[in-house]
Amino acid sequence: MKISLIIAHPDKDSLNSAIAKCCLDTLEANGHTVYFHDLYSEKFDALLPAQEISRTTELPGELKKHCDEIASVDGIIVVHPNWWGQPPAILKGWIDRVFRPGVAYEFIEGDSGEGVPVGLLKAKSALVFNTSNTESNREINVFKDPLETIWKNCIFDLCGVHDFYRKMFNIVVTSSNEQRIAWLSEVAEIVNQYYPNGEVAE
Ligand SMILES: Cc1cc2nc3c(=O)[nH]c(=O)nc-3n(C[C@H](O)[C@H](O)[C@H](O)COP(=O)(O)O)c2cc1C
Repeated sequence: MKISLIIAHPDKDSLNSAIAKCCLDTLEANGHTVYFHDLYSEKFDALLPAQEISRTTELPGELKKHCDEIASVDGIIVVHPNWWGQPPAILKGWIDRVFRPGVAYEFIEGDSGEGVPVGLLKAKSALVFNTSNTESNREINVFKDPLETIWKNCIFDLCGVHDFYRKMFNIVVTSSNEQRIAWLSEVAEIVNQYYPNGEVAE
């Protein structure tokens, strides 16, 4: 299978980076082709320029590569910390520029954009791994779990990826080394479950 793996974290020694590495190792051990993007290392330009809003614009080479990959993969994994109930800005910009009309979604014929978009992504599933310093009940009851709404409803459901799983690891700031190692085992288990060995790598 072809899998996109995206990480948004500025620190290579962070828990998020360890989660992404665990995903990468597990996917490769299972024989999958992985399109791995560390957005900070790549210095991904998160600013959507005016000319890219047009559906028909010619895309710069690097961005076209991101778009072609996301349109072609069988599965997607995104790893990021909870920053103000949202993804880090670099990842928000990646969504803005890569999940384009004609790539990730489109409007049905005769609909000039006011209707309900149709998802175009062929990925069968998407996983999101998050970390935070907020206890789960408070995140859900006080903040209404914005990351669940963003990723499940606003992005993946809309783009046609309905098999969605998100795991939040918390509370990071007070977690022990043993706890973090256990979290990484959990990551490997989830990745193994969604993208097991035995599927033919393309
Ligand atoms: C800019 C910024 C905003 C943050 N906002 C939140 C937040 O809204 N809720 C929360 O629980 N933690 C928040 N945090 C804490 C991070 O989620 C936490 O440091 C991270 O998940 C720990 O994982 P790491 O070691 O991989 O960075 C924020 C941290 C930063 C730097």
